[in-house]
Amino acid sequence: MSRQQWSSQTVFILAAVGSAVGLGNVWRFPYLAGRYGGGAFLIPYLLAFVLLATPMLILELAIGQRMQRGPIQSLRRMHPAFGGVGLVAVTSAFLVVAYYAVVMAWCLLYLVRSLGVPWADDPEGYFFGQVLQISDSIGQLGGFNWPILIALAVIWLSIYFCIWQGPKSVGKVVLYTVPIPVVVLGVLFVRSLFLPGFFDGWRVYLTPVWSAMLDPAVWTAAAAQAFLTLSVAFAIMLTYASYKQPDEDIVKSSWLTAIADLAISLFAGFVVFAVLGYMAWSTGVTVQDVAASGPGLAFVVFPKALSLMPLAGLFSALFFFMLLTLGIDSAFSLIEPTVAAVLDIQPGRKSTHIAGWACLAAFLVGTLYTTKAGLYFLDIVDHFVTTYNAILVALGMALLGGWVFGAEALRRYVNDISDWQIGRWWNGAIKWVAPVVLVILLATQLSTDLRTPYEGYPAWALAIGWGTVILPVGAGIALSFGPKAKFDDESTDSELTD
Ligand code: PHE
Repeated sequence: MSRQQWSSQTVFILAAVGSAVGLGNVWRFPYLAGRYGGGAFLIPYLLAFVLLATPMLILELAIGQRMQRGPIQSLRRMHPAFGGVGLVAVTSAFLVVAYYAVVMAWCLLYLVRSLGVPWADDPEGYFFGQVLQISDSIGQLGGFNWPILIALAVIWLSIYFCIWQGPKSVGKVVLYTVPIPVVVLGVLFVRSLFLPGFFDGWRVYLTPVWSAMLDPAVWTAAAAQAFLTLSVAFAIMLTYASYKQPDEDIVKSSWLTAIADLAISLFAGFVVFAVLGYMAWSTGVTVQDVAASGPGLAFVVFPKALSLMPLAGLFSALFFFMLLTLGIDSAFSLIEPTVAAVLDIQPGRKSTHIAGWACLAAFLVGTLYTTKAGLYFLDIVDHFVTTYNAILVALGMALLGGWVFGAEALRRYVNDISDWQIGRWWNGAIKWVAPVVLVILLATQLSTDLRTPYEGYPAWALAIGWGTVILPVGAGIALSFGPKAKFDDESTDSELTD
């Protein structure tokens, strides 16, 4: 059976950029920058981005492109004991997309309601009360929130029609979903330059708060964000690379993807902080106060700021349309590892059917987040999966690539086929920097979470969070070290270690 392929290298790069650039760039990155001292966040972030996340991106592309299989099989073909790492990656990406799509569903609701700007008077009450109808505590599910559930169904139908033919349909969709949000961001940028107070916002964004850099939490947050924004550590990029020809360039594609992603994050920071500066100006609070609002940024602070501008409805609609188009290509890249992994073990099945089942399953899991307690569950699963699972998978891949398979062997393979070359520094990044930093991140995070219950949630609720780590990892260990007949690949390893 021949594997599907991207129609060209450019289409692959577009798809990779589409996956990387998502809600993480416009919503998560600016709120982290705001929370951790503006300009001081940028330094750890840039370091982690260049020294850690981009080398890992090159590694993932190399593995996927070389092995030409989905995540589990690709890693197993490099070494049988590493199939479990692939399984953790696949299940984690699946868990993430189940709630990522729910955040997109909120965007859709805001988009369809934006012309009237109904949140203008009380954006916080609007978000938590009207849109989420949030219950008092995580223990009160309070039934489904029907508008969100319906919006979620619409989102999943859209995702399905983007991916149903694999790289073929994805390749067509990204021609639109990558440039459109960038253009809209550009429009918002120009608009923001005419807002009074925009420069105060920029100043906060760019002025380093040096003391913040002494806080280890800044470094953990920066490193985690660098991974998430590049879609590294969930085998997403590995899966996308497995649809490339085995001899296509890797280094240039990786750097172009990384540069585009970084540029869009930094650019989005200018837009967001300009608008925050305007909001501070018009409401009389400091930019620091509005910027440190945390995850509520996209749905509380930003809508409020938009409502203060002339033509508020139009710009609100543009903003939420941008979030949706930014998110959709990330969302479908997050479901691809599942589709590829299932296709590997059931090659006879139609990929359109597998894509349909995967979307349906993720929708059903996501319905939990459409209950009145949905936000609490979303918060917990997000916290655990994007820290522990991402760190463990990245660690597994770094050890496999750097030590078991050999960084030098991989580097030679990559350099042989690439337009640009990577130097020996890459070996050090994969063999030493990545594992050491990842272990430190893991230890810091574990000690924090064991000392203080995350966000004060009750133990039973946090047990669900730990479950989203322990169950995939347990299954991964069973796959790696248990009887493995089911996942046997017809091809032998000897053909790969030439
Ligand atoms: N990189 C994308 C983003 O920043 C998608 C993504 C999110 C990938 C979370 C992995 C985890 O939005």
